[in-house]
Amino acid sequence: MEIENCSFPSPWERETFIMTLEDPRCICYVARIDGLTIGYCLSLDMKHMLHVLNLAVHPEFRRRGVAKRLISEMIVCAKTRERIYVVLEVRPSNIPARLLYTSLGFLHVSTWNEYYTDTREDADVMVKKIEESAG
Ligand SMILES: CC(C)(COP(=O)(O)OP(=O)(O)OC[C@H]1O[C@@H](n2cnc3c(N)ncnc32)[C@H](O)[C@@H]1OP(=O)(O)O)[C@@H](O)C(=O)NCCC(=O)NCCS
Repeated sequence: MEIENCSFPSPWERETFIMTLEDPRCICYVARIDGLTIGYCLSLDMKHMLHVLNLAVHPEFRRRGVAKRLISEMIVCAKTRERIYVVLEVRPSNIPARLLYTSLGFLHVSTWNEYYTDTREDADVMVKKIEESAG
């Protein structure tokens, strides 16, 4: 909750975390250093895709490749489960996150108008197509 609260203008409530983590479709990766949680990524495993619901890294541990590793693990998970896409939404103003996703091969495929109810900002939908591995 500490990481969540300092990472988002409208952070998830504790109950939302619990509800998501209790969902059998939820995939959660946590990054830890010496037992200390420094980041996390939560996705829902859907029929053809993994839908990334939340990603955050503690401000003191940013720009060290933690988020890149978390999303990369989600991509590996999607591949292992033979899903076709990894999908997520991002605020157009969130340049660090957009750069992260672009660097991992996500493409902007659609925009949902006024998706975020707090600021009425649009959401950019970004998709990474999972390539079939050779052999
Ligand atoms: C977005 C966020 C998860 C990135 O986490 P991170 O661990 O710092 O990211 P990484 O170190 O793995 O960065 C990987 C790449 O993303 C890009 N990137 C990440 N943060 C960046 C920044 N502040 N400015 C520019 N590029 C950035 C860079 O290309 C970076 O590679 P590089 O460091 O080799 O240049 C983190 O800033 C965060 O928690 N933000 C608040 C919550 C949030 O916006 N979550 C995403 C919601 S869609």
